[in-house]
Amino acid sequence: MKNIPVVMVIFGGSGDLAHRKLYPALYNLYEQGLIHDNFAVIGTARRPWSHEYLRSQVSDAIHETHDKVDENEVKNFTSHFYYQSHDVTNVEHYETLKKLAQDLDEHYNAQGNRLFYMAMAPRFFGTIATHINDQHLTGNGFNRIVVEKPFGRDLASAEELNKQITASFKEDDIFRIDHYLGKEMIQNIIPLRFSNWIFKNSWNKENIKNIQVTLAERLGVEARGGYYETSGALRDMVQNHIFQVITLLAMPEPESLKDNDIHKAKQELLDSLIIPNEEEIKKHFVRGQYAGSDTTFAYKKEPNVDENSTTETFAAGLVKFKKGPVADVPIYFRTGKEFKEKKNRIDIVFKNCHSLYGQVKHDVLTIEFDPTSSITLTINGKKITGEGLRQENLTYAFSKEEMAQVPDGYERLLHDVFVNDSTNFTHWGELKRYWQFIDAIEDAWQKENEKGQANIAQYPPYRMGPKEANNIFESPTEHWIYE
Ligand code: BG6
Repeated sequence: MKNIPVVMVIFGGSGDLAHRKLYPALYNLYEQGLIHDNFAVIGTARRPWSHEYLRSQVSDAIHETHDKVDENEVKNFTSHFYYQSHDVTNVEHYETLKKLAQDLDEHYNAQGNRLFYMAMAPRFFGTIATHINDQHLTGNGFNRIVVEKPFGRDLASAEELNKQITASFKEDDIFRIDHYLGKEMIQNIIPLRFSNWIFKNSWNKENIKNIQVTLAERLGVEARGGYYETSGALRDMVQNHIFQVITLLAMPEPESLKDNDIHKAKQELLDSLIIPNEEEIKKHFVRGQYAGSDTTFAYKKEPNVDENSTTETFAAGLVKFKKGPVADVPIYFRTGKEFKEKKNRIDIVFKNCHSLYGQVKHDVLTIEFDPTSSITLTINGKKITGEGLRQENLTYAFSKEEMAQVPDGYERLLHDVFVNDSTNFTHWGELKRYWQFIDAIEDAWQKENEKGQANIAQYPPYRMGPKEANNIFESPTEHWIYE
């Protein structure tokens, strides 16, 4: 692998994301030689850590995620880490940071390349971006920035943040990260759709009845009640992960696999996204909250959650496009906390065919991508005894050995940032469309709240979410495939 010289600055270097995801991923990339001798990482955060303490934390993070490591390698790797205690609003701190980055650049011959990673509370993203610009933190090589979600909390704030970031970075150098795009089966959607005759030719409105995306979680909000109150399922899961998955399922075939062509195809689709009106939102969207009788499982009883909260922990709805291969095909989604199990899956429901056997069940293509990875085609076949048909599954499931080879999403995505491949990141034009859609739903729900008519379905934990989500379909012949 080509060795990429770089000085990387992680804002939020003492945080959970850096510890659990970034440090182990960077170590793996170091092991593969993508970053090796010519790199330095500066971790910044408020805490008064020393370089040595950061290095011990990075070493712990590697040991926690790897069964066996070469201790010398870990030591060499962590020696490239430096810590700077940093208040994101303090101009002088940026001056110090700039000087440290320049010294390290010289020391490691990083060729003026800079990578900034925003891994801290999103309310600071704009401030940091502004200071990077005002205090000239960029180098004279490449300058890239990785921004964690959420990118804004509505279209207006996302636009403002984008303005702050684009003051120093070109669109091509901004990597808005969505970890779902690093997942194996999500990366498998394009090959599945466009390199199989059977799917390439049937993936259209003539053949598909509807598409269903379910992102179900077994866990509740846990210790994140404070953040979640400002977000809710729509902003936390739909605006980013669900929409990215839907985009991959509905976009036209790109001209090539180059990142620009993939983004072009996505944008073409998203420019035809239909924004639902209030009546449609009432009919086809549901919000819910988990509310068990046992207080532990009631959202309103979670720490840092308002006892009258109207924040949704479940959202279901309908997405449609005017253009693209599945124009006008209903795409249903649902996501929620405290479901019966963790299950991320996509169901492509094909239309009924005329059959000599009378009414037959739909063929369904199911892609499961968490916690297991599999592709299943459910078809009709003859009953062994007796008359008529039964449903059969043709399944390709990843073995344990294959699963073990799958790199973590963050490792994949960081790799792509280093090699400047933006295929699996969100471009501004896409994000804008997502926010337009989310804003319409949020506004409609907000209006209901203000009129005292908030319709928030309460659902029992560890089941399938609110039963109201069974009524969002356009036609009575439609239902959730995963029940
Ligand atoms: C995050 C959300 O983006 O995705 C969390 O903020 C959610 O609320 C998580 O739990 C789910 O990710 P995954 O990879 O576990 O499905």
